[in-house]
Amino acid sequence: MALKKLVAGNWKMHGLSSDLAEVKAIAEASEAYPAVDVALCVPAILIERASRAVPGFAIGGQDVHFAEKGAHTGCVSAQMLLDAGATLTIVGHSERRDAQREIDADVRAKAEAAVACGLGVILCVGESLEVREAGEAIETVSTQLDASLPHGDASTDRLAIAYEPIWAIGTGKVPTGQDIGEMHTALRQRLVAAYGDAGRSVRILYGGSVKGSNAGEIFAVPDVDGALVGGASLKTADFMPIVEAAAAANG
Ligand code: PGA
Repeated sequence: MALKKLVAGNWKMHGLSSDLAEVKAIAEASEAYPAVDVALCVPAILIERASRAVPGFAIGGQDVHFAEKGAHTGCVSAQMLLDAGATLTIVGHSERRDAQREIDADVRAKAEAAVACGLGVILCVGESLEVREAGEAIETVSTQLDASLPHGDASTDRLAIAYEPIWAIGTGKVPTGQDIGEMHTALRQRLVAAYGDAGRSVRILYGGSVKGSNAGEIFAVPDVDGALVGGASLKTADFMPIVEAAAAANG
């Protein structure tokens, strides 16, 4: 079953008020591709202005705290994201797993908090180069997924997974189509093991150096249901060819 593709931009720590024009341009250009879900995950402080600037277009956060509220200086809750106009959030990005030392149990709690609030979730998993070279990528990422998946009712309705090999992020390196395919097939099996048939409708995105020039090839791989895009999501001219490739892959 082919799932509707999702192409989500992850702006990371990029974006000022002056970049809202870029959000608008991407949202407007995306209207030409109704067969693709397009989203931009912007810095938390831009969410409210971005969502006001482009009503109906999906604006997301890049992280969320697992607690409803409380003494968590500097953190943002799921309810706050929702209140600011976000409809989804990334959780478990490797940059957070690494720099903020987030472990799978944190990621799972964050995903559960976001889903419970009604937010969509893009849950990231991926292996390091050492793990890939040791031939342990599939086993490692499958274990990471199992431990990070949200439990509870309706988890699958709003869930997407992003397979992002750490060594491919921002490096210009991309795994072969065969490697991506083998990983996505393994992750699909884990999703079905966790959620039964509902696991078949969870989109599995690929992320790591996706560009207009390689998107078509990546989207042709079975079980690739979209992309999480960092650097190439900052500018309309770089991002829209990826959305266009997703639309073309939908057939
Ligand atoms: P990249 O980042 O597209 O710049 O490699 C992807 C990501 O980190 O989500």
